[in-house]
Parts: sequence; structure tokens; C-alpha cells
Amino acid sequence: MPTSTRSTRCACAAMPSNVIAIISATLLIMVTSALSLLIGPTTTAAAAAARHRTILNRDIMIPDPVPQSGIDEAISLMQSGRMYRYNAKDASSSVVSLCEHEIAQYTGHKYCVALNSCGSAIMLMMKCAGLLPGDEVLCNAFTFGAVPSAIEHAGGKAVYVESDSNLVMDITDLEKKLVEYPNCKYCLISHMRGKLTDMDAVKDACDRHSVTLLEDCAHSLGVYWNGQHSGHIGKVAAFSSQSYKMINSGEGGFLVTDDASIAANCAVYAGAYEGLSAKHLTVPGPEIFMDLPTQIPNYSLRMSELAAAVIRPQILTIDERREKYNARYDYITDQLVRRVGQYLSIPVDTPGTIPVHDSLQFNLSHELNHEQVQQFLEECAIHGLKVDLFGAKSNARNFVNWKFAPAGDDPLPMTTEMLKRACDVRLPLMWDDEDFDDLVNVLCESLDAVVYNTGFE
Ligand SMILES: Cc1ncc(COP(=O)(O)O)c(C=O)c1O
Repeated sequence: MPTSTRSTRCACAAMPSNVIAIISATLLIMVTSALSLLIGPTTTAAAAAARHRTILNRDIMIPDPVPQSGIDEAISLMQSGRMYRYNAKDASSSVVSLCEHEIAQYTGHKYCVALNSCGSAIMLMMKCAGLLPGDEVLCNAFTFGAVPSAIEHAGGKAVYVESDSNLVMDITDLEKKLVEYPNCKYCLISHMRGKLTDMDAVKDACDRHSVTLLEDCAHSLGVYWNGQHSGHIGKVAAFSSQSYKMINSGEGGFLVTDDASIAANCAVYAGAYEGLSAKHLTVPGPEIFMDLPTQIPNYSLRMSELAAAVIRPQILTIDERREKYNARYDYITDQLVRRVGQYLSIPVDTPGTIPVHDSLQFNLSHELNHEQVQQFLEECAIHGLKVDLFGAKSNARNFVNWKFAPAGDDPLPMTTEMLKRACDVRLPLMWDDEDFDDLVNVLCESLDAVVYNTGFE
């Protein structure tokens, strides 16, 4: 990857959202140039610096495309009209069933049920594990709002465990909460941005308190813990195929487990009525289902054949993409630490993790006050780079925004402090190496601008 600093790139190919950034930068240059004429040489230096600011002109929200074989399979399903999973003549001709089999093979689980979303998988994993209305569920204070939502949907009550500056659940606070909530029977852990805490310590703590561990692996497809795919330490796990995840079907999710009863219950809740469980490859036999379809409701949360068709070829490339993502991430973080390491720190992966770094997180240092943190975000935005602060007022990963499942009297000081400085940037697969050079430049130049006050005013 080239290492040299590149100057401002051509605006001709800018996407509409970036046009604003380019116009703003142009205005900035015009204003600073005019000022330099009026005020003299000191401002000229600032104007020169401004002139050399990097501008990103690529869409950071671009999702991964569907491989051609997935597009072909989806088209043929549409031509035949067979888009409902149970419209297939048997399990091995159902695209969803084949997809479930391939996901289970990839993650190493015995059973897999495909669903319309990971949020549905999380909701069902609690119900299938026996959660009753009003039961408490320990979960990360730093996660996506869909998680406390799923707890609420399942009838449970979220109790939050602190997350630390490595963005993972804090084990000391978990131990404390397990003691403070002796009636709590479930711990739902989210591997936010694919980061795993010490899962052996979590398991040990949960076992000592007879708490069932459930894993939200929405961000950890392709991530390994101690040589095993993520999602094996808990009794059941959930994966997502929403567009910004490692597999993209727009919407979609999977519940995986080695527990026969959980798998059967999940299939029925999802919509395997009458004897339709026979059209699954990765659920237990009829001796486990028995009369379940008459005992529990059908929530109609099935995955469609179209979603499964576009997912299947993507499973084959997860490992290859992990290598690509991680090589880029190493390059980017090396550059950041070398150039602006004084002003930010990179969360550390817990030993034992093989990560998938498909996004970048960093914590701005206390050298920057809160106003400067805001200025930094604005500097990045105006130069074409969307950087999200997890603690922003509207961020769905900020627990203060979960008014439907409030933290109550628990101030969660560790998570609160972390959220104020933790930044999040996508690293789209479709970008080229030089785009990541630009990304690093925008981050470093924006920090410089804020720290040395040379940015836009
Ligand atoms: C940590 C986490 N868990 C669960 C979900 C829910 O996934 P889905 O959108 O597939 O319902 C998300 C969605 O982004 C998430 O970020």
C-alpha cells in the first residue's frame, strides 16, 4: 500500500453526500486565501495547510455486493415463484435449509434455524432457553439498541453490565452484578464490533451463579475464540445477515445451538407449523418436535428463499475477506498510532481472539476536551469521512437512548466515560487501498486541525 500523503483528490466523481464536503472545503480554501491577502503571512501558513487537506469522495456506507451465483439463484427463484422456504419439495431442495446447513458447518454448530433478522434470533433464543415474563437478563451496557429491544420483546428486563475501553463487557462488573441480582438466570453477551471479552471468565462466572449464557454474535461471524468459532461458549448464539454485517441479505439472521430442544422450539416459533420441520436439514428429528406446533405460537419469523440464495455464496468467502480486512486494519492502525498515537488509542483484542476487523474503533485521548471531540467529528465530516461517536446524543448504541429499557439508578460510569470518546468508522470491503490512505489522512489531519486550531472556524 502506498504510504505517501496524497493531496486533495478530484471532486468530479463525488457522491451527492460528499458534494457538500467538497464545496465546503473549496469555500474554506477561498476564505483562507482571501484572509491571507488581508492579514498577512501567519494566516498564509494556515491557508496552505488547509489547501492540502485530504478529501474522501467515496461512499462509506457501501455494502458488500452479492456474488453473481447468488444473483442467478435469486432470479431463478423469482422466475419459478418459489420464494417461500416450505414451498420446496423436501429439505434438500429448500435453499433456506441448504443455507442453514452451510452456516452450521461454518460455525461448527449442530443445529441452525434461519430467521428474518438477528433481532428475532436474539428474542427467540431467550424464549427458547426458558425466559419467563419479568425475568432479568444481564447484557452489555454498550451494545446496539436492538439487544435491549429483543429482551423487552421476549418479556425480560435488561440489567446492564459495564463495558470497558476495549469495548467489551467488564468481567469485574459482571461478577458484581451476578451477586447483586441473585434471581437473574440469563446473561446475553454482545460481541460488539466483533470484539470478544475473556469468554472463559464469563462462562466461569455464569456457571458459578447457574446463569445461562447466550451470545449475540451479530458482529462476530468469522471471529474465533481459542480456536473455535464464536458462539460456542454460550448455550445458543445469534448471527445477522443485515447489510452491514459479514454476510449481506439486506435483512436476515440465524439461531445456532447444539441443544435439540432449543432448536426445535425456535423452528416452531419461527413458523414450522404442522409437520414442516421435516423440510429442515439442521433441526432434530420428529421425536423432539412431537406436538410442539400446537403448544407454542407461530411468530412467522422465517427467512425467505431469496435471502438464503444471496447468502450462500458469501459464506464461502468469509475467511478470505477476514484476511483482507485484517491486513487493511493493521495497516491503518499502524499509521494512526505512528502519526497521532498521542491523541488516540486503539482497543486491544483479548488474547485468544482471531478477529474480523471490518470496522475501526478508537478512543480519543483526554488531551482533547469535549468541544474538541465534537470539532474533530465535524472536521472529518467536512472532509468526506463519517466518524460516529458511540456516545452521541442520537447514537442507538448509547444506553441513555434506550428509554424503553432504562438503566434506572445504575449510572454505569465506566461505559459512560468510554462512550464519550469512542469513535467508530466503517472500512468498506469495496474501497481500494488508496481510499484507506485518504481515510488515515483525514483522521490525522482532522486531529491536527483541532489540536493546533488550524481547521475551519
Ligand atoms: C450488536 C447487534 N446485535 C443485534 C443486532 C440485530 O441485528 P439485525 O439487524 O439483523 O436484527 C445488531 C444490528 O445491527 C447489532 O448491531
